[in-house]
Amino acid sequence: MPTSRGFEEMWRDLAPVGRSAVSGGYFRQPWSSAEGELRAWFAAECERRGLTVETDGIGNQVAWWEPDPLVEEGAPRPSRDPGVLAGSHLDSVLDGGAYDGPLGVVSALAAIDVLRDRGFAPSRPLGIGVFVEEEGSRFGRACLGSRLVTGATTWEQARELRDRDGVFLADAVVDAGLDPSAGLLSLDRVGTFVELHVEQGRDLVDRDVAVGLASEIWPHGRWRFDFAGQANHAGTTRMEDRHDPMLTYAMTALAANKQARLAGQRATFGRVAVEPNGTNAVPSLVTAWLDARASSDGALAELVASIERQAEDRAGRDGTTLTLTAESVSGSVAFDADLAARLAGLHGWPVIPTQAGHDAGILSDAGIPTAMVFVRNPTGVSHSPDEHAETADCLAGVEALADVLAELTSAPS
Ligand code: GLV
Ligand code: MN
Ligand code: MN
Repeated sequence: MPTSRGFEEMWRDLAPVGRSAVSGGYFRQPWSSAEGELRAWFAAECERRGLTVETDGIGNQVAWWEPDPLVEEGAPRPSRDPGVLAGSHLDSVLDGGAYDGPLGVVSALAAIDVLRDRGFAPSRPLGIGVFVEEEGSRFGRACLGSRLVTGATTWEQARELRDRDGVFLADAVVDAGLDPSAGLLSLDRVGTFVELHVEQGRDLVDRDVAVGLASEIWPHGRWRFDFAGQANHAGTTRMEDRHDPMLTYAMTALAANKQARLAGQRATFGRVAVEPNGTNAVPSLVTAWLDARASSDGALAELVASIERQAEDRAGRDGTTLTLTAESVSGSVAFDADLAARLAGLHGWPVIPTQAGHDAGILSDAGIPTAMVFVRNPTGVSHSPDEHAETADCLAGVEALADVLAELTSAPS
């Protein structure tokens, strides 16, 4: 069956790109060689389908399948027709899974194949898009590519960000062979956005269905905690004479976990940097990044404030200091409920919330009617080499996406 062969071939092509031989996980950081390879792969897949890819100055990509009677190849595009854009991202977290992001891109390509196999001709433009640095794994800002194209973040703000090696974002983009002065993708012709994504939880497993739609994204964000103390000798400094920021950090991590558990929310310290990071020295500085998520904006603010209060209390007792910086905050997203209901009605799919951030949330915030299609993840594990989806469910996702795109591109505006 053409669908199955197309999807699986593309999936096989992508499998080795950026994969660690040690963990089997993926390191597809933005503006790395792995990500460049993925960009070239995407362009080639679009070309293969007769679609011309536009790559903007930072590496966002889009290719449009134009409605036949309206546009000759190469002719000016009709701006009056709002198009439907399907897509996701190809970058990964550090040591991430294969599915988070690429499943949405590969499924969008495969869905176009399905629609063509069905003899379907869209009545409005149907695009496939890829946004860069969705995970914020290199520069710490989630969904940076989509934030830039929607104007939620400006280039002036983004260009000054530095990665862990001190490389400025603007330099990383240029080193990747891109030219930021070429400008950013325009979303002017995007009337609706649809992102297919592997589910990052077990809701669909519990419901025993392969496909679902998204209702909302929990508000979430990243906060940098700098705990400063006094470097000192690990042997000769009496325990009561220390100003050890590691203790302040450790208590804060435990407090964050307890606070989130009690309130049914999420709090994670997944990244820590220690200065000078020597075994026989009390550290001078511990920097730790909190990822916090909650069911409402107010609950998230209260969660972070409570963690901060407890960290400050402990810092007072340890003789250390805390500096807290919000690095990336995303408010709650309610996807277009009428759109979700309309699409869910196609096959009776469930409509479920998610605690994960997505480019779809950014486009929705920008006022673009947006829907997400989730594909079942048998273990719910994500942001891990163990992330998985069964091929049969991926193919069900492709068919579902094709149905959604057919529904959205059938009617003229
Ligand atoms: C992105 O996947 C996030 O939710 O952090
Ligand atoms: Mn993702
Ligand atoms: Mn992710």
